[in-house]
Amino acid sequence: MNPVIAPSILASDFANLESEIKMINQSQADWIHVDIMDGVFVPNISMGLPVVQAVKRHAKKPLDVHLMIVQPERYVEAFKEAGAEIISVHIEASPHLHRTVQLVKSIGCKAGVALNPHTPVSQLEDIIGDIDLVCMMSVNPGFGGQKFIERTYDKVKKLRAMIDRAGAKVHIEIDGGVNLQNAKPLLDAGADVLVAGNFVFSASDPVDVIQKLKNIK
Ligand code: DX5
Ligand code: ZN
Repeated sequence: MNPVIAPSILASDFANLESEIKMINQSQADWIHVDIMDGVFVPNISMGLPVVQAVKRHAKKPLDVHLMIVQPERYVEAFKEAGAEIISVHIEASPHLHRTVQLVKSIGCKAGVALNPHTPVSQLEDIIGDIDLVCMMSVNPGFGGQKFIERTYDKVKKLRAMIDRAGAKVHIEIDGGVNLQNAKPLLDAGADVLVAGNFVFSASDPVDVIQKLKNIK
């Protein structure tokens, strides 16, 4: 099965967002990854609801919204209204994760849980059957263009085994530092969704890079 490819518009040219979205529309990308940062949960501020609404007006692919914010439950409905199809919240920001996951699903979105690099996959044991996606951070969240953390491979294997044991159907999405070198071993370890920011948008031919990621064998 070909992986799901989700370019992260964090690395795009915000002054030309419409043409960046149109490039993604014309590519083999499957989802558009949208990184929301609040300057509290992570040491950076990215974009908010009006930008997501603007992206949605041009997007022909589902918006995969990654909330790097504290108290994400306060904004889940607003991001759904802005156009999100998939909403991921961080486990580290969610003392009532089960409740938040139910909220995300009750409004008709797919529910994702994001995991920082230091958070063991074992923390997902009692929620894995309730969610659609795990967004596994392979860098520390907050910035694009960082170096991929090698330990991620082991975490992906453990997580895929946990999902199989549970008989669940859950995407494993890798977020941070993805490129053509680590993509294949990540897929072999059990990942099936690749987020890519800088690797796509700093390329001279982003459509071609997306096509290469999509067709890794
Ligand atoms: C990091 C974000 C990532 C980031 C990935 O906090 O969650 O989605 O945009 O960018 P690259 O692929 O450049 O590491
Ligand atoms: Zn992200």
